[in-house]
Amino acid sequence: MNLTLKVWRQKDGASQGQMATYEARDINPDMSFLEMLDVVNETLITKGEDPIAFDSDCREGICGACSLVINGVAHGGHRGTTACQLHMRHFKEGETITVEPWRARAFPIVKDLVSDRGAFDRIIQAGGFVSVNTGGTVDANCLPVAKTDSDEAMDAAQCIGCGACVAACKNASAMLFVSAKISHLAILPQGKPERDRRALSMVRTMDEEGFGNCTVTGSCEAVCPKEISLDFIGRLNREYGKAILKNRIERQGGD
Ligand code: SF4
Ligand code: FES
Repeated sequence: MNLTLKVWRQKDGASQGQMATYEARDINPDMSFLEMLDVVNETLITKGEDPIAFDSDCREGICGACSLVINGVAHGGHRGTTACQLHMRHFKEGETITVEPWRARAFPIVKDLVSDRGAFDRIIQAGGFVSVNTGGTVDANCLPVAKTDSDEAMDAAQCIGCGACVAACKNASAMLFVSAKISHLAILPQGKPERDRRALSMVRTMDEEGFGNCTVTGSCEAVCPKEISLDFIGRLNREYGKAILKNRIERQGGD
């Protein structure tokens, strides 16, 4: 396949960026989008030009690094598919494809298509974990978990922290990500003791990092490569509301 790429190039976070045009020649339709970018970069390097910077790691849809907006849609618009799992056969011969980075105040651009998603790490550090007593080994099945609960927790735990939900949201809200992280822990018995502190701390950090508010447009769910449901945002709101209420009652010395 032969394609034309319009790619966002930006030297660093302080510089102005602009779209640049490249030709992608002799692309195998079975290549992934990232492999196609590799081919373009090899050509640029051969010509002594600066290759296009983009993020990737696993290239199999599990790490969340491949943060690309392709033809205006985070991850390219194929349901349940990360940019690294998107294949070139989904594009037309001769097509012009635009490639841009995530754009959100909380995800500043580092270079070209690479943005700094450290804000997500700081939200996880604020409470996205279970404090573990590493004493003796716990017997298997000593904490029974209902099948419906384990299924729902597993659905939420599929979030790979890619940030597409933020990139797609007109408010750059991180609610879908935070709701998935809070839910998968709050649903399981191991996560319940810290659920209030977790909800308060993670939501506070989300706000401090500069993410916008959720107005339930659903664009986050539409682009999420792990098909995280908007229902988890409802659960997050309930978790957060209960935590605020309990916190207030405790401060007033009530029960
Ligand atoms: S909720 Fe979906 S889109 Fe958002 S970070 Fe998690 S996997 Fe990515
Ligand atoms: S590179 Fe890991 S999910 Fe795409």
